[in-house]
Amino acid sequence: MTDMLTPVLSDNWDADRSWTRASYERSGGYSALRTALGMEPGDVVQLVKDSGLRGRGGAGFPTGMKWGFIPQDNPNPKYLVVNADESEPGTCKDIPLMMASPHTLVEGVIISSFAIRANVAFIYVRGEVLHVVRRLQSAVREAYAAGHLGKNIHGSGYDLDVVVHAGAGAYICGEETALLDSLEGRRGQPRLRPPFPAVAGLYASPTVINNVESIASVPAIVKNGATWFSSMGTEKSKGMTLYSLSGHVVRPGQYEAPLGITLRQLLDLAGGVRPGHELKFWTPGGSSTPILTAEHLDVPLDYEGVGEAGSMLGTKALQIFDETTCVVRSVLRWTEFYKHESCGKCTPCREGTWWLVQVLNRLEHGEGTEADLESLLDQCDNILGRSFCALGDGATSPITSSIEYFRDEYLAHLEQQGCPFDPVASTLFATAGASA
Ligand SMILES: Cc1cc2nc3c(=O)[nH]c(=O)nc-3n(C[C@H](O)[C@H](O)[C@H](O)COP(=O)(O)O)c2cc1C
Ligand code: SF4
Repeated sequence: MTDMLTPVLSDNWDADRSWTRASYERSGGYSALRTALGMEPGDVVQLVKDSGLRGRGGAGFPTGMKWGFIPQDNPNPKYLVVNADESEPGTCKDIPLMMASPHTLVEGVIISSFAIRANVAFIYVRGEVLHVVRRLQSAVREAYAAGHLGKNIHGSGYDLDVVVHAGAGAYICGEETALLDSLEGRRGQPRLRPPFPAVAGLYASPTVINNVESIASVPAIVKNGATWFSSMGTEKSKGMTLYSLSGHVVRPGQYEAPLGITLRQLLDLAGGVRPGHELKFWTPGGSSTPILTAEHLDVPLDYEGVGEAGSMLGTKALQIFDETTCVVRSVLRWTEFYKHESCGKCTPCREGTWWLVQVLNRLEHGEGTEADLESLLDQCDNILGRSFCALGDGATSPITSSIEYFRDEYLAHLEQQGCPFDPVASTLFATAGASA
């Protein structure tokens, strides 16, 4: 079973002091940088295109194609921005990667910046994770000291400076254009597109924004080739990736495997759902992807497979919930998160997420009516596709999918006038029922 695991990004995570440059170089680190510097930048872009790498930040956009959009005849400077904001509930792969092997990301940043001809790159890290900020800063310092960064890198004539920037802690700053506004010192709110960042991004200059895992995958592609990478995965979803298992699972953590593995296989690797319990529902890619159930254990976890099952692969954050979990309460918690994190720029999301919380709160406490379910679906319909950015759309996913699969559980809250999973409320209910 363990041969399903394909440790590439995570291969050196158990090495002694894996986060240091010395340890990274002992395991072959920075050799891809030397290879890339001997290539034409356009050939590096082509290599990444040929590999089939798709962005690991959620949407799965082809990385090489994105790099190819940078207009090289534009006289402005070009920028690479790494999105290390990782704030989606359940998503927890970039932070472990940056903690265990920050040099994998730094090497990827240098190669990717070289490919798009950027001389300055930014790593935008979620500000709350100070330990990660410090680890990255230390890795960048070590890379300068070794001549991997700075002027005339290894005599190639190529210059690159890397800035580690700590955000102030807002989920919306992970949305790529809000991130750019935040990086420029403004309030983080999404920008109207077009123009797209590739044309007018950071400081109105051509900018590539990629997720940590996308950029960290580049050194291995340069080292082993496009054919090696594309030999893993499925027809349209190539390569290996980090699946993050959390929740009611025996061994939660990062499982690096080819795209297309199933949750059943991953659960086998992770020791299964905790003993004595069974899978009730799960998210394939964080809380903004529609939930799935035990019916979907054999869905291939690639972009197409999860899409056909009615959800999205997203960030591959597999949150596992067993039968002891109240789906209404979980959805309420997620919706409270979206309400709190809504940046307020557009009405459907700003007002809509507030209303969703009011109605869900009522339902969870058994105080609503069946008409509230239709009202929730109607509100979701008015948010989905009408919001300015994907935060609003994402806020509706857990609600519509949970009503699809667990309508009876919503109704049970109304029948019992409280949450059937709440031990206190159910005891009170039982007592009230007994004395009536
Ligand atoms: C509300 C919101 C939050 C997001 N947060 C992140 C994040 O923390 N990290 C990330 O890489 N992408 C995040 N994204 C997606 C980015 O906008 C963007 O698509 C991604 O960084 C592109 O990188 P990729 O092509 O390498 O996947 C978020 C999107 C939205 C709408
Ligand atoms: S959808 Fe929400 S987060 Fe996005 S712009 Fe509108 S208010 Fe802001």
